[in-house]
Amino acid sequence: MAGTIQAVRGMNDLLPDAAPSWLRFDAAVRDVVRQYGYRYMQVPLVEVTPLFARAIGEVTDVVEHEMYTFDDRLNGESLTLRPEATAGIVRAAIEHSLTYERPQRVWTTGPMFRHERPQKGRYRQFHQFDVEALGFEGPDVDVEQIVMLHRLWRELELEGIVLHINSIGDAEERRAHRAELVAYFSEHADALDADSQRRLHTNPLRILDSKNPAMQPLIAGAPRLLDRLGSATRAHFDGVRRLLGDSGIGFTVDPRLVRGLDYYNRTVFEWMTDRLGAQGTVGGGGRYDGLFAQLGGKPTPACGFAIGIERVLMLMQDGGSTASDAPDAYVVHVGERATRLAMSVAENLRDAGLAIVVHAGGGNFGSQMRRANASGARYALIVGDDEAAANVVAVKPLRDSGEQVALSPGELATRIAPIAQPAKHG
Ligand code: HAM
Repeated sequence: MAGTIQAVRGMNDLLPDAAPSWLRFDAAVRDVVRQYGYRYMQVPLVEVTPLFARAIGEVTDVVEHEMYTFDDRLNGESLTLRPEATAGIVRAAIEHSLTYERPQRVWTTGPMFRHERPQKGRYRQFHQFDVEALGFEGPDVDVEQIVMLHRLWRELELEGIVLHINSIGDAEERRAHRAELVAYFSEHADALDADSQRRLHTNPLRILDSKNPAMQPLIAGAPRLLDRLGSATRAHFDGVRRLLGDSGIGFTVDPRLVRGLDYYNRTVFEWMTDRLGAQGTVGGGGRYDGLFAQLGGKPTPACGFAIGIERVLMLMQDGGSTASDAPDAYVVHVGERATRLAMSVAENLRDAGLAIVVHAGGGNFGSQMRRANASGARYALIVGDDEAAANVVAVKPLRDSGEQVALSPGELATRIAPIAQPAKHG
């Protein structure tokens, strides 16, 4: 006998029981982005490999180790499953002159692919909610995005997600700081691990990102870019801090905060929690004023972030936040006339906006009632030969006490709708 086939490691199914929380998250996101004037767009899951190499950086974990890259079987062109959305959105913005007339606030969502070692909160196919403001210099937009995310946490009743911010300067400042870093780490070359040795001359900034405990004292003593910002960059960061202060959102300035992708400059931020173990970064982003030019476009300041949907869902479940997709009523029916009445009554109730599951697949009243109970519906609507003959439906409350009553199809919608509706989000 053939063996069963399983999903690819690190790539998950979303099963129906987990879906209501996912959809609740989705609805909250749609609400929030609309309130801030961000507009939806999509980019392909597959792009040419040089896009990511150029945007994210050759010497990053993502590009060096984590991309799903393959050759197009016809022309041999190297293609990659997107590890993130920003590069594709900027590519699309350049290709379609999206910011030619005015700046654009956009957002997208969908699966991203990174060949990481799977563990709790870390997957090979995961999903992001991604927001980008294209053509805005900030710092107002930087803060707008932070405030928007804070609103999302509130909508979802999520607590304990803290904000860390930093400024990683502009290209010039980073070059100067980089030279300083190389000098500093070269002086301590014997204390560097193999990864850091390699990065010393390719990307010394990444050394600060090292998770190796043995490296931490050395990293702590390294020259800080935040102390060496030029006046324009400093003014930008002061603006971010001032507006954030006005917003009342708590934040920590973390001079060690660097992001795992190379396109950032000036403001960077991450939202973190200690409730997810090792994968505590719920989302992050920042400014990437150089990326348009780096990808061959006209220089265009921009800022964005992405959050990991799986991680947010874990927090929602952890916090006892539940969502339900139970129908308002489950219709139980036995007999041909009863079935016909059941189906027309169900359509009438759907016209009134209710969610109605009509039992399918036959069975006696007992087995159908068990399904009705398991569905989580608030009411069972019961139709048998007697009800069909009298043109009534028996309404039995399933979740609270109350008498079973017989109602005519006309009475049903007016009696059930007001009772069932408030329960929908309960
Ligand atoms: P990122 O920090 O690489 O940024 O990813 C953003 C978020 O995606 C992370 O904070 C995390 O929650 C989630 N995430 C990343 N990798 C995984 C994984 N393997 N499994 C589960 N979740 C994961 C970006 O991707 C940038 N494009 C964000 C951005 C947009 N910057 C500017 N605009």
